[in-house]
Amino acid sequence: TTRYTGLIDKYRDRLPVHDDTRIISLGEGNTPLIRLGNIPRDLPREVDIYVKYEGLNPTGSFKDRGMTMAVTKAVEEGSRAIICASTGNTSASAAAYAARAGIACFVLIPDGKIALGKLAQAIVHGAAVLQIQGNFDAGMQIVKDVAGQAPVTIVNSINPFRLQGQKTAAFEICEALGAAPDYHCLPVGNAGNISAYWMGYSEYAEHGIVNNRPVMVGYQASGAAPFLAGRMIDNPETVATAIRIGHPQSWDKAWRAQKESGGWFDRCDDEEILAAQQLLARKEGIYCEPASAISIAGLLRDVRTGKIASGSRVVCTLTGHGLKDPDIALKQAGATVTRIPAELGAVRQAILDRLA
Ligand code: F0G
Repeated sequence: TTRYTGLIDKYRDRLPVHDDTRIISLGEGNTPLIRLGNIPRDLPREVDIYVKYEGLNPTGSFKDRGMTMAVTKAVEEGSRAIICASTGNTSASAAAYAARAGIACFVLIPDGKIALGKLAQAIVHGAAVLQIQGNFDAGMQIVKDVAGQAPVTIVNSINPFRLQGQKTAAFEICEALGAAPDYHCLPVGNAGNISAYWMGYSEYAEHGIVNNRPVMVGYQASGAAPFLAGRMIDNPETVATAIRIGHPQSWDKAWRAQKESGGWFDRCDDEEILAAQQLLARKEGIYCEPASAISIAGLLRDVRTGKIASGSRVVCTLTGHGLKDPDIALKQAGATVTRIPAELGAVRQAILDRLA
């Protein structure tokens, strides 16, 4: 059959599942790798830029890659309930896959600072939504503590099956390009995804499926940049609420990815993040959420400064869909709805004005 049935079926040989494992899938993965056509023309040097549009996963973010594995294994092990702390996307994904599996889902979300679309997803899919008076890092600590005292499986990225699922994005990129890219740029919050990509690229290199690995580049928001500080930080702040994290759980793994790949971490201000989100939307027709746009913001700066060399092939992960969080983007774009009478003449005039 040619029907696509999700990444576990596709990469079964490289994932920890058995022939008789009941797979919990919503058809995640197989996302487009889009070559940018307009933004690169305005750059001072020639760089081939692709975006891996993970916003097109079933719940609108890359988390679905990890969640299909984590929930499949939780069910296989007989678990009846999952739990996570989340800035929004993990909880949306967990809620959907728990519904699919027919098990309970508990999500701890921060006090405010969560995009409305993500909150709606968790509620609509029937999760128990527990809003704590604290931030993501506080929620993460509670989740780790409570898992020893209640019958719940943690599905944050400290669950090793999450990274197993997420590594498949690197496989797809290698297959699409026929090699690994020269650079891979992505946002870093809890640092699971950068670790998963590095696992995926390394696995393909080890098995001779490709003979190169990319330089890994991780970007953090300036107000939530523990990797830049070289230590955990308290009270992280950024407009990119998805990556408002000061105590990343995959600290060691992410540093290993940076060191082994010869890569780096850098930070971007909120203004740069929002400008990049708008640039992608207007120049390429791609709408991602603010946290995702940081990979473009950082990349453009690193190309301008020459840190990323001419002739390079670069992949940026756009981790989540822009529709998750339209409020901030709308504000950024300014009010651009023109009110007119419902008349032919008014519409014709509006067209002529706009094209003038
Ligand atoms: N981009 C988006 C849209 C995210 O939701 C996240 C993380 C990241 C990037 C960072 O990925 O944590 O693997 O380094 N969101 C988590 C959540 C924390 O709860 O949804 P990371």
